[in-house]
Amino acid sequence: MPHLAVEDISVYYPGQQRPALTRASTYVKSGEFVVLVGRSGCGKTTLLNVVAGLLKPTDGRVRIDGETITGPSADRALVFQNDALFPWLNARENVAFALKLRGVSRKDRGEMADRLLGLVKLDGFGDKQIWQLSGGMRQRVGLARALAAQPAFLLMDEPLGALDALTRERMQTLLLDIWAQSKVGALMVTHGIDEALLLATRIVVLAPGPGRIIREIETGFGRRYVEGETVRSIKADPAFALARADIEDSIFEGETV
Ligand SMILES: Nc1ncnc2c1ncn2[C@@H]1O[C@H](COP(=O)(O)OP(=O)(O)OP(=O)(O)O)[C@@H](O)[C@H]1O
Ligand SMILES: [Mg+2]
Repeated sequence: MPHLAVEDISVYYPGQQRPALTRASTYVKSGEFVVLVGRSGCGKTTLLNVVAGLLKPTDGRVRIDGETITGPSADRALVFQNDALFPWLNARENVAFALKLRGVSRKDRGEMADRLLGLVKLDGFGDKQIWQLSGGMRQRVGLARALAAQPAFLLMDEPLGALDALTRERMQTLLLDIWAQSKVGALMVTHGIDEALLLATRIVVLAPGPGRIIREIETGFGRRYVEGETVRSIKADPAFALARADIEDSIFEGETV
């Protein structure tokens, strides 16, 4: 069971007096869905980029099963807010590209790509050009491409941030379905507190000035969805509203405006 440990990470960007992130420690195990929340500028993206291996921390390290990471790797797939697909390739080819990187033979790639597109509910869309797809569909192609790498960890920075409210709700349950099936360890950034509550097994709250982790809260609403409860019923549970108020208090504690 892969275990990703964030150990005492600090990041100073060049020219900044205060660290963007200071002494952050947490972990993600496979089968967990960890969600980072906090005010703008508190270091969420910075932390995710360090975990992805895109950014070297000034101090601290990220270890996977004891091994310190040295850069990006196929064991950690990334999904960004904007889809970052190749516009000159169609949906199937975008997914197949990740399969090619994994060493899957040309002969098998098309069929596997179609299966991955099916997983994100895009059956029959393989031949569509990226510009022919809606924002939600593009995000699903991005997700299929990320899953094509068979990552142990799925890292997502506001993956649903650019979507309209209805599409976003559908994507949330799709994410839970995929997470439950694939057993990846998910690490996601969001600004939506309801979204965090619905998806997370653990919520990590960060605060700015300097960016740091101030709290971790175990939650179980996403698992209830996976076990068959409807989103409507989960959100109607008074425990959901209580947890939301509690997290809002943590995020906005000390806020003067
Ligand atoms: N490349 C960079 N160079 C210098 N400073 C940066 C850079 N990227 C981020 N910062 C600064 O580091 C701090 C943390 O930024 P980060 O993007 O991690 O925050 P965030 O929590 O993701 O914010 P948001 O919710 O707005 O996306 C901010 O003060 C930001 O201005
Ligand atoms: Mg960010």
